Amino acid sequence: MINHATKKQELMDAFNFRHATKAFDPAKKISEDDFNFILEAGRLSPSSIGYEPWRFLVVQNREIREKLREVSSGAQGQFPTASHFVIILARKNATPQSDYGQHILKNVKKVPDDKMEQMVKAYQHFQGVNLNLYESERALFDWASKQTYIALGNMLTAAALIGIDSCPIEGFHMEKVNEVLENEGLLDRENFSVSVMAAFGYRAEEPHREKSRQSQDEVVQWVD
Ligand SMILES: Cc1cc2nc3c(=O)[nH]c(=O)nc-3n(C[C@H](O)[C@H](O)[C@H](O)COP(=O)(O)O)c2cc1C
Repeated sequence: MINHATKKQELMDAFNFRHATKAFDPAKKISEDDFNFILEAGRLSPSSIGYEPWRFLVVQNREIREKLREVSSGAQGQFPTASHFVIILARKNATPQSDYGQHILKNVKKVPDDKMEQMVKAYQHFQGVNLNLYESERALFDWASKQTYIALGNMLTAAALIGIDSCPIEGFHMEKVNEVLENEGLLDRENFSVSVMAAFGYRAEEPHREKSRQSQDEVVQWVD
């Protein structure tokens, strides 16, 4: 039988343990097994219409990290010290009619051939009419980018559950990060752009301040 009380406590402990870590202990490395657990939390994350419009770039190369640090004001302490540094890319053109959309439908979701047309139409209606994503390339990219934040959240929580610190990062210049990655041959700019980043490791010191959050009353409204 599942012990709910223990699980709830473990998860609450993880949420309280997690804080935006500014600098990691550079001597402490996350084990391969533990980091793989974090990657799996990202990979198994849900995404709208199951499109998985993400790619996880694990940047361990020190020189590339330094180039990225120069264009990422919010990650000055994290780039040089993180045990593992992940750049989450989002897809630019994740529509059902794109090659990628077709791949997801056929090979990942295993939609039978005779159902393909119907699915493509339904997803186009969802993206184009319901969410108005075809309004601009940016709207469609931002929709994909939203999905990557779900993976980000799961990765941070998974890490915290096993005592690993992290920091989500969007303190960067998007265009300049894309340029660095492209120059390093790490980015297919036709299809991807940087969405968000995450640094992982073990804290160098305890957080300077208590966790601060609004009360439940301030953020939850019940409609009975
Ligand atoms: C999407 C996102 C981007 C963030 N970007 C940065 C960043 O670039 N640099 C940084 O030090 N913290 C960054 N943070 C951390 C937030 O400032 C932090 O989560 C918030 O102040 C709450 O503090 P806590 O996470 O320690 O509880 C980011 C958080 C999120 C969710």
